[in-house]
Amino acid sequence: ASTRYEAESTPATCAGTIDSNHAGFSGTGFCNGDNAAGAAVQFAVDATTGGTATLAVRFAGGTTTARPADVLVNGSRVTTTSFEGTGAWSSWVTRTLTVSVNAGGNTIRFSPSTAAGLPNIDFLDV
Ligand code: GCU
Ligand code: CA
Repeated sequence: ASTRYEAESTPATCAGTIDSNHAGFSGTGFCNGDNAAGAAVQFAVDATTGGTATLAVRFAGGTTTARPADVLVNGSRVTTTSFEGTGAWSSWVTRTLTVSVNAGGNTIRFSPSTAAGLPNIDFLDV
């Protein structure tokens, strides 16, 4: 079973605003990151066991340009991903990634690598 971490809820942090103006999100809103490189969303994730974990991050991007991001686990960049446009700000898509986590507390950070920033981020399932 996975655990859902909502981007709008503590202990997640969002370098931007928590918005709810585009339908279809889970919970009470989503992270609208600032349109700037490094305007990240970060999740504090508790893993019962260490090792390979599947991340599922839900996002929406209403522009036609993909928004690339670094994926950092516990402060180290472990991979990159590129969030494609999803057709509308209300069209949410889930991206899965595989990373290695420690047993116990971890931070999972998505940090945009261009001035476009992140797409809107709804949640992370781990
Ligand atoms: C629009 C949209 C926001 C989005 C932003 C962006 O302003 O309403 O939800 O975050 O574009 O381009 O990042
Ligand atoms: Ca934004």
